[in-house]
Amino acid sequence: MDLASFQAQLDALRDRAGAAIASATTTGELSEVDSGILGRKGALRALMGGIGALPAEDRPRVGALANPIREQVESALAARREALEAAALEARLLAERMDVTLPGRPAWRGSLHPIRETEREIARIFGQFGFVVVDSPEVETDELNFQALNIPEDHPARDLWDTIYLQEPEGVPGDGPKYLFRTHTSPGQIRAMRASQPPIRILTPGRCFRYEAVDASHAFEFFQVEGLMVDEGTSMAHLRGLLDAFAHELFGAGRATRFRPGYYPFTEPSVAFDIGCVVCDGSGCPACDRSGWMTILGAGMVHPVVLRNGGIDPERHQGFAFGMGTDRITMLRYAIRDIRAFLANDLRFLERF
Ligand code: PHE
Repeated sequence: MDLASFQAQLDALRDRAGAAIASATTTGELSEVDSGILGRKGALRALMGGIGALPAEDRPRVGALANPIREQVESALAARREALEAAALEARLLAERMDVTLPGRPAWRGSLHPIRETEREIARIFGQFGFVVVDSPEVETDELNFQALNIPEDHPARDLWDTIYLQEPEGVPGDGPKYLFRTHTSPGQIRAMRASQPPIRILTPGRCFRYEAVDASHAFEFFQVEGLMVDEGTSMAHLRGLLDAFAHELFGAGRATRFRPGYYPFTEPSVAFDIGCVVCDGSGCPACDRSGWMTILGAGMVHPVVLRNGGIDPERHQGFAFGMGTDRITMLRYAIRDIRAFLANDLRFLERF
């Protein structure tokens, strides 16, 4: 081999490299071309490895011949890489183009269940009068759901509450506590009285259970909010004033209200609290059985026996209690006709709130 044919081989290499560089369409392909020519096992190295075949006096000139070729290949690679990267960026920008004038997509937004929302509204209203929310269990003892509330075993008043009793766990002696699903939130009264001393102003909202035939206004699983106030000199007048303020805030300032005599074993006297019908405003319609009134809760002065069962001296402290059906109040607020809608989990219903 002589220098001229070495030069010819270099030229051929440059031409092949030029063609390969020009035909690379991605930066990945270009990298392969790069290492195929300039890499450790590339064509240029291979060619240089052959200089041993040159006459000794020619060898020092090899570098001067090869270096410009290497530089040409390098700059062709760099230029091609730049062009490919620019094209890729262009394509990406085109693909990811966004029209900033399009209206945005509304964010998905959840909402409270209407029962929870009503519970919160009730708590907010009574909160203004110093009532705080406390929790009370859904599985109760017979003692707290009934006996401590002045409803002895076998008392006919138990017929007011169709109760779901729980089977005693096996191996537990029969004289242990009897458990049931609470039929009302009133056991929360006893728990609150036993847990603290007057003055007491609490609400206990929650789920209750009765063994009921289900229809549009009866569910075997429903919600109540209980209220209890115990203090010195607490009277029926306080109860009436508080419930009026509540009814006016929830159902409108002009809403008529009234007490009717009622009966509960744990309050004496007991009342039903009515508001003017929210449908006809009192003139009489099918929704209020043409009476013009709707009952929204039961209430009364806490029976002295119940105060004593809660560890409170009835000579010194008096109290009132009330219990309302959260389902019913929610139905009145939103004109919902069927109580079963609340637990049916139909999103078309729930998304309206
Ligand atoms: N616990 C009663 C019921 O479920 C309601 C009530 C509560 C009445 C508190 C008076 C006082 O029907």
